[in-house]
Amino acid sequence: MGRHIHVIGIGAGDPGYVTVQAVEALNDTQVFFAMDKGEQKSDLVALRREICTRFIREPGYRFVELPDPKRSSGGDYRDAVSEWHAARTRIWATAIATELGPDGVGAFLAWGDPSLYDSTLRILDAVAAQVDFTFDVIPGITAIQALTARHRIPLNDVGEPVLITTGRQLRSRGLSGAAVVMLDADCTFAACGADTRIWWGAYLGTGDELLVAGTVGEVGQRIVALRAEARARHGWIMDTYLLRAV
Ligand SMILES: C[S@@+](CC[C@H](N)C(=O)[O-])C[C@H]1O[C@@H](n2cnc3c(N)ncnc32)[C@H](O)[C@@H]1O
Repeated sequence: MGRHIHVIGIGAGDPGYVTVQAVEALNDTQVFFAMDKGEQKSDLVALRREICTRFIREPGYRFVELPDPKRSSGGDYRDAVSEWHAARTRIWATAIATELGPDGVGAFLAWGDPSLYDSTLRILDAVAAQVDFTFDVIPGITAIQALTARHRIPLNDVGEPVLITTGRQLRSRGLSGAAVVMLDADCTFAACGADTRIWWGAYLGTGDELLVAGTVGEVGQRIVALRAEARARHGWIMDTYLLRAV
């Protein structure tokens, strides 16, 4: 048998996004490893705990909080990320080796789906070179599916591609066709042409959800103001948007 880890996609906000496969994996888990993200995102930690309380039938599991090393902000972005991953790898390797028995089952809960802008799988691959265990992946509903479902729109135009990108990349490369933009702290859509269509969503799937759609010219400044106000009120924000150039 040996140690086993489930990487469970828990959906991007609504506990109702948790799949039947995820519920089975949650119920198979003895130890949940959780990143300590600090005070600001305590709402997200609370949601993870709510998912466990709601879907796990036998309360025999426990949480192990793992410190999340700080990512250095200056210098090269990729170097900073790779140092940060190496620090996480060391912490996770120690935790898996010490907290899981020889046949123990652990889990990492990944926000949305573990394959999308999430480092869990990359880090676990590196940990597997240091500690003996197997792992599997349970897919989850991403912020992209939550966004398109809440706006009731198809993601792509007929036969057309869609780029999934970040605010940083949109700023440096510009927009052509359609793009889903994630991880954008700077409202980069505001630099797109006024006719560009935008479907924006924040805190998708939660009780605080915000949705705005229109052209950048019509609704861009409203989104900028709404975003700043919501961020100040909650202390954090997660937003995603689909852009379609005309
Ligand atoms: C580190 S990525 C994780 C993405 C996640 N793995 C997924 O499948 O959606 C975090 C980004 O996802 C987007 N995001 C995640 N959850 C969201 C939500 N509930 N509402 C809006 N955007 C969300 C935001 O763009 C945020 O900056």
